[in-house]
Amino acid sequence: MQTIGVIGSGLMGNGIAHVAALAGYDVILSDVEMSRAEAARSTITKNLARMVGKGTATQDAADAALARLTLTTDNAAHEAADLVIEAATENESVKAKIFQSLTLQPHTLLATNTSSIGITRLASTTDRADKFCGLHFFNPVPLMALVEIIPGLATSADTTAAMHAFATRLGKTAIEAADSPAFIVNRILCPMLNEAIFALGEGVGSVVDIDTGLKLGANHPMGPLTLADFVGLDTLLSIMRVMQDGTGDPKYRPAPLLVRYVEAGWLGRKSGRGFYDYTGPEPVPTR
Ligand code: NAI
Repeated sequence: MQTIGVIGSGLMGNGIAHVAALAGYDVILSDVEMSRAEAARSTITKNLARMVGKGTATQDAADAALARLTLTTDNAAHEAADLVIEAATENESVKAKIFQSLTLQPHTLLATNTSSIGITRLASTTDRADKFCGLHFFNPVPLMALVEIIPGLATSADTTAAMHAFATRLGKTAIEAADSPAFIVNRILCPMLNEAIFALGEGVGSVVDIDTGLKLGANHPMGPLTLADFVGLDTLLSIMRVMQDGTGDPKYRPAPLLVRYVEAGWLGRKSGRGFYDYTGPEPVPTR
């Protein structure tokens, strides 16, 4: 593999393009508007400069990575790729339309970074279910060491092995998950965050006491309500609903307070308010 296509240059796409270019791959990064792809290149440039500042990458490596990055608004450009990773908006019909619009070489592998859509279901919208796989990165991609590899029903052993080799070359640790709602990490993490919101809603503890409890009592680097705000409360709610709908198990029901916060537009860090208020110099607990 020499050329990697990345479709969607948002939060995840720019991170995936960053780590692939830094690992020596030629990277084609596409989005619907050039301004979005350009914004991704600025983010990658800034994040590479930060790595150089910290001594985790050399200036030469950062310059070479940027030189390996090509931006486009034309998904047909992915014909040059050996592996195409779809990291577009989390919407099944958007993804299916993208897959149907691609013209790929026969050997090219196709991966999706979806957090919640079934891999086997998405594979069936492509012309290469045996060469299709889930490849789930974590935010922020350059800093998070993990990748989940999720083979679908028809994914070949060669495709899965190629995903492992790719993740290793990126310097990531890969784990393999079954094609089951929320895979491994979100399946276990999100119910814990949801439970923290149940506890807050039931008055079991304050925002600060719940976060401090898990930080000092369970050695978590970040409290669950801080982490929920970071993930985005709308994203957390949507993952809980995927698990509830996908399993039919009421243990995954979203906390009523989580639903209310999302209805209020309090989505966490990105909206300026979640369980903390982010509009000042320091986050301030809201309950
Ligand atoms: P985002 O909203 O930041 O970026 C999505 C990008 O896709 C946008 O720039 C949009 O313009 C572009 N796009 C939409 N339609 C397109 C098309 N037809 N062709 C090319 N580009 C198109 O979303 P984000 O957060 O980067 O998520 C992308 C994927 O990664 C989703 O499937 C999401 O579930 C998954 N994911 C997100 C994580 C997160 O923490 N945000 C973590 C792991 C996976």
